[in-house]
Amino acid sequence: MRKRNVLLVEEDGSLCQFLKEKFRAEDYLVNTIKKPDAAISYIRRNTPNVVIADLNLTGINDIEFVRSITGASPSTSAIVIPCDGSIKKAMEALNAGAFSYIKKPYNKVEVLVTIEKAFEVSELTAENLRLKRNISRKLMDRILGTSEKIEHVRSIINKVADTDSTVLILGESGTGKEIVARALHFGSNRSSEPFVPINCGAIPEDLLESELFGHEKGAFTGAIATKIGRFEAASGGTVFLDEIGDMSPGLQVKILRVLQEKEFERVGGRKTIKVDIRVLAATNQNLTKAIKEKKFREDLYYRLNVIPIEMPPLRERKEDIPVFIKHFLKTISKAKNKDVTTVSPNAMRLFEEYEWPGNVREMENVIERIIVLKEKGMVEENDLPDNIKKATILLSRKHVKGFDYRVYISPEGLDFNSVVDKFETDLIINALGMVHGVKKNAAKFLKLNRTTLIEKMKRKGLRLDS
Ligand SMILES: Nc1ncnc2c1ncn2[C@@H]1O[C@H](COP(=O)(O)OP(=O)(O)OP(=O)(O)O)[C@@H](O)[C@H]1O
Ligand SMILES: [Mg+2]
Repeated sequence: MRKRNVLLVEEDGSLCQFLKEKFRAEDYLVNTIKKPDAAISYIRRNTPNVVIADLNLTGINDIEFVRSITGASPSTSAIVIPCDGSIKKAMEALNAGAFSYIKKPYNKVEVLVTIEKAFEVSELTAENLRLKRNISRKLMDRILGTSEKIEHVRSIINKVADTDSTVLILGESGTGKEIVARALHFGSNRSSEPFVPINCGAIPEDLLESELFGHEKGAFTGAIATKIGRFEAASGGTVFLDEIGDMSPGLQVKILRVLQEKEFERVGGRKTIKVDIRVLAATNQNLTKAIKEKKFREDLYYRLNVIPIEMPPLRERKEDIPVFIKHFLKTISKAKNKDVTTVSPNAMRLFEEYEWPGNVREMENVIERIIVLKEKGMVEENDLPDNIKKATILLSRKHVKGFDYRVYISPEGLDFNSVVDKFETDLIINALGMVHGVKKNAAKFLKLNRTTLIEKMKRKGLRLDS
């Protein structure tokens, strides 16, 4: 354990004289500095447990000085000696973040007790900060991937987590938007306060308002008691507005007010409620397009988009695919008590080639299915779901296969929807094969819109061999 470190900031040396014996007996690291500026740089560098500062120093703004001490080292307990022993000054110093104050003439017992308490508080605060940093590091570790794009995301999280800035997380479904929101909250100084996620798309519109803002008793039929909303419940912490793109225009106005004023009223209530919250939001929609279509308010967009974080889809960071595959094989195998932890090179190639329209979430599900069905051994090409196996279209299949439903019968029998789905897939593959992979011509042959064909190919994970 490191030695207790104390800094005395005083000009006349009276305190130093007075405490010398005690500090020597306890083997503390003691320093005395006369100049406030030098004291602040010392505090920043050495984070002493306790600073005892005489505010009667020449030429300082005493309260600013107290603020600088706590700003320079959050775990340092500042004990002040107020100017002229004024209680008013002492109170101002406490409000500015000082831990306690002592008055001249010194009462030895009182001073020693205050210093001992200051040490204890400083050590607890330091421990608390260390734990928080650990949690945040652990959460950051959970954001897997080694690609440049994900490194960039991590560096933004590092920079903005411990601020109160609003962050808008954009990205396709399953790219990890929620995991980023959690890392931002748990990496902030709000981490011991609540993290309240709200899925704006999943809660029916008429319920969402009372869910967010709460309601007063009798506000509407069924409101039998006053209920606090999620914004109030999140007080001091973070609200995560997930799927914000799905929020109705009426609610968008109300959210805008919460963002601007940090205040709202409960449904059916008159009292204005103030809250201290940080807002994070996420969506998989193209908000710029939604603004053009008048579905999303431009002013709300600018309020939310203070710090944007773009979650890249998996297909744009293919080097992360093997990392995820191995991670999910390991964790899901362990959780399910199975032994499927390796992948054949061919199967891995298919995983890497596949476009993963559902991103990491889809991958998690695919791996879970493979593990459950396989139980043990190496994952081979044949263990992969059809859409991944077919991701690379075999242009060699140039003949049109006549429809024979027996081809589609699996050991479990015949399932209408999957037969239709497979038949559709085969039709597309064959049509593309006939026209040498020219999508426009395949669409023409199938009498489909080109965009419809592309959409279907995307959904099925079909991709042309280059
Ligand atoms: N970089 C990552 N590292 C580890 N796990 C990840 C990562 N990205 C996503 N995941 C996992 O993938 C799943 C989906 O992630 P998450 O719920 O954060 O995505 P999302 O973008 O919010 O998706 P949706 O739009 O479907 O809500 C989660 O189980 C999450 O743990
Ligand atoms: Mg999500």
